[in-house]
Amino acid sequence: MSSGAPQIPFHIPDEPDVDGFVADVRTILRTGRLSLGPFTARLETELAAWVGPGEIVAVSNCSDGLIAALSAISEPGAEVIIPGYTYLATWQAVLWSGMTPVVADVDDRGLLDPAAAAAAVGPRTRAILGVDLGGQPADLVGLRAVADAHGLALLFDSAHALGAAWADRPVGAGGDLEVFSIGPTKQLGSSEGGFVVVNDGSLADRVRRFSTQGHALGELDATGPGMNLRMTEFSAALALRALPDLERRLAARAAIDARYRDSWRDLPMRIPVTPSGERSAFKDELVFLDDPADRAPLRAHLEAAGVATRTYYDPAIPDLTVFQGRVASADRSRALAACGFALPIHGRLAASDVDRIIAAMRDYPRWS
Ligand SMILES: Cc1ncc(COP(=O)(O)O)c(C=O)c1O
Repeated sequence: MSSGAPQIPFHIPDEPDVDGFVADVRTILRTGRLSLGPFTARLETELAAWVGPGEIVAVSNCSDGLIAALSAISEPGAEVIIPGYTYLATWQAVLWSGMTPVVADVDDRGLLDPAAAAAAVGPRTRAILGVDLGGQPADLVGLRAVADAHGLALLFDSAHALGAAWADRPVGAGGDLEVFSIGPTKQLGSSEGGFVVVNDGSLADRVRRFSTQGHALGELDATGPGMNLRMTEFSAALALRALPDLERRLAARAAIDARYRDSWRDLPMRIPVTPSGERSAFKDELVFLDDPADRAPLRAHLEAAGVATRTYYDPAIPDLTVFQGRVASADRSRALAACGFALPIHGRLAASDVDRIIAAMRDYPRWS
């Protein structure tokens, strides 16, 4: 039964600087430079303050950026270790790069477990691809140790993690290549877009060329494979208007997360805790239920109370209908996929929305 109260959307991008953006659109249309122009160049420069010091290559979206990054290190027959609990773009990108995904298990926060990654290494392993799930920094130190011990490249799918930080550096600065999203459901909420941070300088040219059909701008000789991954000037302009607001957006998300946690401490569920010293970007509010059987009725109860939620990420990667790859370990990934879901956390939630969400969870009949 519906509560009659307005629906609280699962996600809606933070309110943009509409007037500033409209002025930028006029500039873009007047100059006629619709992609790979000054807005994209300025975005690459300004993002450095958040994810530097690596070279930044703006691309059409994070999925494409992952393909570009993986293609830069791809070798025929090679394997890439990925977590079993992630959005399917991580796995798809490995396939598109011509390599084979190998699933290794996650820890209880849903992050690739370094011990599981180490156990998954085989003679064909080329790289480890960690994921900063929900904005939580992946285990940089643990995964770097495994990568270095076996001579592997270390990459991160940081789609969720713009603004997150490890103890001593921003997410973006730790992997050889890291790939971010600035799309509609992410912190900058642009129309679509992403970028690659290249920390291994020897790969920068390959990534940049991949994003423009394998050639450098101004010439037409292709030195390797490539696609059209150009960012539009409109996406770059929208992201540039959002960037000065990013710190505030992150703080607002952290405050919502803190309210949820404080209010639900006694409920039979768990919200992953980011270790002290690290900073989550709180892209998602992930909840893992003690009893997976509660998920469907609890989500239906929330829906009736006007609270939209999503299951994350069920089925687990190795259980996708079209899964191709090798599974080294996945028990915890499967368990989290069965009991996990995500609640609204975004900049357009009013304090009264947060109150409603908190109350709706507590009112779930099996818990109240
Ligand atoms: C973990 C993960 N990786 C990659 C992507 C792809 O990002 P984009 O939508 O910018 O292609 C997403 C999208 O939500 C994601 O959740």
